[in-house]
Amino acid sequence: MKAPRKLHIKSYGCQMNVYDAQRMVDTMANEGFVETATVDDADLVILNTCHIREKASEKVYSELGRLRITKEEAARNGRRMNIAVAGCVAQAEGNEIIRRAPVVDVVVGPQSYHHLPQLLARASSHGRALETEFPLEDKFGFLPPPKPDAIRARGISSFVTVQEGCDKFCTFCVVPYTRGAEVSRPVANIVEDVLRLADNGVREITLIGQNVNAYHGEGPDGRVWSLGTLLRRIADIPGIARIRYSTSHPRDVDDTLVAAHRDLPALMPFVHLPVQSGSDRILSAMNRRHTVEDYRRVLDRLRAARQDIAFSSDFIVGFPGETEEDFRATLALVTQIGYAGAYSFKYSPRPGTPAADMRETVSAAEMDQRLVRLQELIDSQQSAFNQAAIGNTVDVLFERTGRNPGQIVGRTAYLQPAHVLASPDIIGQVLPVKIETLERYSLLGQLAPSSGARANTPAYRQAPASPMTTGA
Ligand code: 5AD
Ligand code: SF4
Repeated sequence: MKAPRKLHIKSYGCQMNVYDAQRMVDTMANEGFVETATVDDADLVILNTCHIREKASEKVYSELGRLRITKEEAARNGRRMNIAVAGCVAQAEGNEIIRRAPVVDVVVGPQSYHHLPQLLARASSHGRALETEFPLEDKFGFLPPPKPDAIRARGISSFVTVQEGCDKFCTFCVVPYTRGAEVSRPVANIVEDVLRLADNGVREITLIGQNVNAYHGEGPDGRVWSLGTLLRRIADIPGIARIRYSTSHPRDVDDTLVAAHRDLPALMPFVHLPVQSGSDRILSAMNRRHTVEDYRRVLDRLRAARQDIAFSSDFIVGFPGETEEDFRATLALVTQIGYAGAYSFKYSPRPGTPAADMRETVSAAEMDQRLVRLQELIDSQQSAFNQAAIGNTVDVLFERTGRNPGQIVGRTAYLQPAHVLASPDIIGQVLPVKIETLERYSLLGQLAPSSGARANTPAYRQAPASPMTTGA
C-alpha cells in the first residue's frame, strides 16, 4: 500500500480561517493526505493567510522565504514539496504572490478551496496554478464532510460557517473585497453539519460568519430565516450544550436575535459586538452605519433579554482624522459599557479601501500611545471581570487535559479558561465549579455538587475571547 502523503497547514487570522483550514484538510484527506504537525516531512504545505492588517499580510512573504529553504532541502533529498497559499492574501494579491514568490505552486482564494485537488494536479502538469475567482457554485456543496475520527480529534467545540462575506463596506476593511458579497448557507445544510458534529461528541457550536447576524438563509419552510431563528433550530439538536455566534454587526441585531438570548439557555450570554470607535464623527467616516447611541441601545436590549450577558468588542485607534477628543469618546464608551474583554488595533491602511486614500493620518507615535491607553483600560476591565468570578459557582464545559497532572481545562460561559483537578471522564460535560483563585487569565477551582437550575453568574457586568474573530 502507498504511504499516505502528508499535509501541513498553517492558519493565520480569524476563526473562519481555522474552520477553512479544517475543511481543506478534509478535502485533501479524500485525496489520501494526512495532517502532519511539522513542515519538514510535509509533501504539501498550505499557508492560510490573513489580509486584515498590514502586519498579518506580510507574514506570508517571510514564511515563504523560510519555506523556500525547506523546499530546496526536500528536493535535494529527492522529495517534491508543494506549496499553496490560500486565504485572503491569496485573494487580494494572487498575481503578486506568483510574481514575488516562485516557490509557490498554487494560489487559491477563500471561495475556491474546494478546487484544491484540481489546482495541485494542474500545478504538477503545468508548473503553477492560480484561482481567485468567486465561482458561481457554492463551495460548501463540494466540500467533503469531516470523517468521524477527524471530528473527534478536533475536540468538543467546533466552528460552523453559516454566512460568508460582507456587504457593509466599512471604509477601513478589506473583507468585502477578499471574502466577497454576503452569502448565507441554507438552514438544512447547517443542521446536517451540526448533527454530524453532535453525533461525534461535539458539545459546543460557534456559528461563524464575517457578519453572522446578517444571516438570511433559506429555511426548510421555504422562507428566509434570520440568525435568531437558526439559533432556535440548533438549540434543538440533542447533544449541543452550548451555542455561540461570531462576529455580529450592531445594525443587524434584530428582535429574533434578542429573543433567542431571552429564550435559549444554551445560547451563551457572551457576545462579541464590535463598535470600532466611540466617536460618531469617526463612526461616520468609517461608514459603520450606526451611532454610539444606536450601539448602546442594542446592548441595552440584549441586557434586558438576558441579565447575565457580557460583551466584548473590537476597536481601531488612529483611524484617519481621529482627534484626541474622538479617542477620549472611545475611552468614555468603554468605561460606560464595562467589557469582559476586547481587541484593539492600530489602524492599518489597506490597499483598495476608501480609508487608505484619506489624508488626515494620525502619527505612529500618537497611535502607539492611544493603543496603550485603550488597552490599559480594557485590561483593567477584563481583570475586574475575572476577579469577580472568585467565590462564585459557575458552569464550565470541560474540553481537555491540562499541562499539570490530573488537571482538566474547560471554559466558562464567558470563555474564561477554568482548571480543576478531576478525572478526564468529565471532558465534554458542563459541570458547576466553585472558583477559588485566578492565575493570570485562568480561573482555578473545584467541582461543586450539581444543584439543578443555576444561572451563569454574571461575574461583574461583564474573558478573553479565544482566537481573533472574523469581520463585522
Ligand atoms: N486596520 C486596523 N484594524 C482593522 N480591523 C479591520 N480592518 C482593519 C484595519 N484596516 C479590525 C476591526 C475588525 C477586526 C476583525 O479587525 O476592528 O473588527
Ligand atoms: Fe464588514 Fe465587519 Fe469589515 Fe465592516 S468591519 S466591512 S462589517 S467585515
